[in-house]
Amino acid sequence: MRALVTGGAGFIGSHIADALLLRGYDVRVVDNLEPRVHPRGVPSYLSREVEFCAGDIRDKRVVERALLGVDIIFHHAAYQDYMPDYSKFFHSNVVSTALLFEVVREKGLPVQKCIVSSSQAVYGEGQYNCPEHGFCLPPARPVEQLDRGDWDVRCARCHRELEPLLLSEEHPNPTTPYGLSKYAEEIVALRLGRMLSIPTVGLRYSIVQGARQSFYKAYSGVCRIFTCALRHGHAPVIYEDGLQRRDYVHIDDVVRAHLLVLEDSRADYEAFNVGTGKPVTVLEYARILAKTMRVAIEPLIPGIYRRGDGRHTVSSIDKISRVGWKPVKGLEEIFADYLAWLDTVGDAGDYFTPAFEQMKQNGVVRPVRRQEVPLGHVRTKMA
Ligand SMILES: NC(=O)c1ccc[n+]([C@@H]2O[C@H](COP(=O)([O-])OP(=O)(O)OC[C@H]3O[C@@H](n4cnc5c(N)ncnc54)[C@H](O)[C@@H]3O)[C@@H](O)[C@H]2O)c1
Repeated sequence: MRALVTGGAGFIGSHIADALLLRGYDVRVVDNLEPRVHPRGVPSYLSREVEFCAGDIRDKRVVERALLGVDIIFHHAAYQDYMPDYSKFFHSNVVSTALLFEVVREKGLPVQKCIVSSSQAVYGEGQYNCPEHGFCLPPARPVEQLDRGDWDVRCARCHRELEPLLLSEEHPNPTTPYGLSKYAEEIVALRLGRMLSIPTVGLRYSIVQGARQSFYKAYSGVCRIFTCALRHGHAPVIYEDGLQRRDYVHIDDVVRAHLLVLEDSRADYEAFNVGTGKPVTVLEYARILAKTMRVAIEPLIPGIYRRGDGRHTVSSIDKISRVGWKPVKGLEEIFADYLAWLDTVGDAGDYFTPAFEQMKQNGVVRPVRRQEVPLGHVRTKMA
C-alpha cells in the first residue's frame, strides 16, 4: 500500500509518515518546504525511507506526479499564519484540496481513503450559553472591546457574560481567513469524497504539541515560545489576561487518531474533533511548564492581545470517543517529550521575534489602550 502525505515534511505530517512506515506502507511525501516553516530546507528528521517529492500542491503537475500509484491520502499541507494575505489561505488550503480530488477523478486513480487535517479554528469565537437567551455562536469579539482590555464574550442581546461550552462538531463558526479556509477545505474534501465514493474523514485538531514543530513560524508555537523564553531566563509573555482556556493534545495521540479513522469505516465522511475536552488556561500552562523546567519565573501579562484568537476554545471529544479514540497523554508528557526533543536539537534560538515583530507591524498583535502599553517595549521574548 502506498500512502501520500501532503505537507509530510512538516510537524504533524512527518509523524504520520513515520507511523505509516512502521506499519509497512510505502510513503510518499509532497511538500514545497514553505520558507516560513523550513528556511533551512529539508528537515533532518524526515525519514530516509520516505519518497520525497518537492513541489507545491497548488500546481496540478505536482499533484499528478504525487498521486501516481497512491492508495491512501493524508492531506496535511496548509498555509497557517496570522498574516493578512487572505487569498493565500484559500489557494493553499481549499483550491489544492479540490485539485487532489480533481486529479483522482481525471486519472481514475483507485484511492481508497483520504484523511484531511482540519482545525479547531473552524469554531472561531466558540460556542456559548447565555443564562437568559440560551445557546449562541458569538461573532469575533470587536476590536474596540479588546482594545479596552475587556476579554469576555458577551451576549449580543443582553450583554451578559456568556458561559463557554465545549466545542461540538455540529456548530462551526469560523471567523479568521485560516479558520474559514480550513472549514472550506473540510467541506470540499468530505463532499467531493462522497461524490467520488472515496471514504474521506476530516480531523479538527486542537493545539497539537510535540517534537518537530517549526521554530520559525508564529502559528501554534506556544510550547516552543514559552520553553525558549524560560530557558533564556525570561518570563513567557501572555496575551489577554492568561485566563483564556485552551486544550493541548499530544502528537502521539493525534497520530493514533489518524490510524483509527484510517481503519474504521464508521468514521467515513465525518468530521471529528481531536483534542482533550480538558480546559487549561494559558496562565496555568505557563506555570506548569515553568515548574516542569524547575525555573521560578512567573509569566508576564503586559496587556496585549492577538486579533483572531478565540477567548475559550476547548473541544468536546464525545464524537470521536464513540469510534474508540481517547487521548492518553497529558500536559506532563507533552512537556517532558518536548523538552527531551529540544535537548537533541542543537540550535533552538529565538526565532519567534521576527514573526512577532511582523504581527505587531500588521496590527495583529495590539496593545490594550487603557494600560497605555507602548508595544515597542514588549519586545523579543514574546509569546
Ligand atoms: N499544529 C497544530 O496545532 C494544528 C492544529 C490544527 C490544525 N493543524 C493542521 O494540521 C496540518 C499540519 O500542520 P503542522 O502543524 O504539521 O504544520 P507544518 O507547517 O509543520 O506543516 C505543514 C507542511 O506543509 C507544507 N506546505 C505548506 N504549503 C504547501 C504547499 N502549497 N504545497 C506543498 N506543501 C506545503 C509546509 O512546507 C510544511 O512542511 C495543517 O493542515 C494544519 O492546518 C495543525
